[in-house]
Amino acid sequence: MTDYQNILDDISSGYKETKERGKIASYIPELAKVNESKFGIHLVDLNKNNFCAGHSKEAFSIQSISKVLSLALAFSLVDNALLKRVDVEPSGDPFNHLSLLEFENGIPRNPLINAGALVVADVLVSELDNPKKDFLQFVRDLANDQTIDFDEKVAKSEKRTGFKNYAAANLLKSYGNLKNDVETVLDFYFHQCSMAMDCEQLTKAFFPFMNGGKCQRNRNYLTLSQVKRINAIMLTCGFYDEAGEFAFEIGLPGKSGVGGGIVAVLPRKYCVAVWSPGLNAKGNSKLGMEALEKLTTATHQSIF
Ligand code: DON
Repeated sequence: MTDYQNILDDISSGYKETKERGKIASYIPELAKVNESKFGIHLVDLNKNNFCAGHSKEAFSIQSISKVLSLALAFSLVDNALLKRVDVEPSGDPFNHLSLLEFENGIPRNPLINAGALVVADVLVSELDNPKKDFLQFVRDLANDQTIDFDEKVAKSEKRTGFKNYAAANLLKSYGNLKNDVETVLDFYFHQCSMAMDCEQLTKAFFPFMNGGKCQRNRNYLTLSQVKRINAIMLTCGFYDEAGEFAFEIGLPGKSGVGGGIVAVLPRKYCVAVWSPGLNAKGNSKLGMEALEKLTTATHQSIF
C-alpha cells in the first residue's frame, strides 16, 4: 500500500525553510493579509483514510476552486442545457481575459474562466430559490460540514476592486448571455469565491469527483457522465494558461484558486487538497503545484 502519510510529511517538511514561495494575490486586498509561510496538504483515499501535513486545518479563501462546485450544482440542475451558453474548450488565456469573449460573441470558452463562471452563476441565480443560501447549503452537504461559510470581508473586498469581473458581466449581458442583472450575478459570484475552507474540507467536498458522483456518505450528487465531463473540464481548463503544464507535471484533473489552494483528484484512488498562498506567474499556487508534482512522482500514480 502507498505510504501517503510519509510522502506528505516529506513534502511538507521540505518547504519549512523555502524562501521562494511565490507572490500573494493582492488585487483582492483582503487576500493580501494572509501569512505567506503557510503550507498545508490533506489527502483522502477511496476508503476514506485521511492523511495530512502542515496547516491543513486552517481555512483559506477558496476563490476559483468554487467554480467547480457551482458547475456541479448547475449541471445537476440543468444538465447539458448549460452547454448552449458556455463552451468546454481550454482558453490558453489568463482567468480574467476578455478578448476571446468578444471574438466568440459572448460565449465563454469554458466554465472555469471568470466569464464562464459568471454564466454558471447566472444559471444558479435563475434556478435556486435563495441562491447564496442554497449554494452554501449544497457545499456544506457535499462536505458534510455545516460550519463552512462565506467570508463577507473577502466578498466585499472583491466587490470594491473587481473591475474586470464587472467588465466581463457587462460584456456577457450585452450579448444576451446573462439573464439576471449584473449586480445580482456578481454578488453571488463574489460570495461563492469568498468561501473559506481548509484542505480537509475541500477533499470532502471534492470526494464525489473521484468517487463516481457519490459523497463520503454515499449520497449521489452527479451522474457518471457528469463526473467524467467535470473532471475533463478540470484537466483541460482548471489552470487556465497553465493547464498544459499541470497535466504535464502532475497528470491529474484539478482546480486552483488565487487564495493559493489547489484540489486534484485521481479517480477511484484519492482526492488531495494543498494550500500555500504564494502564487506563480500564472496565478496558481507555486508550492502547491510543486507539492502535487512531488506527490504524483513519488506515488507513481496519475491518470496517465
Ligand atoms: O474572479 C476573481 O478574480 C477571483 N474571485 C477568483 C480568481 C481565481 O481564483 C483564479 N484562479 N486561480
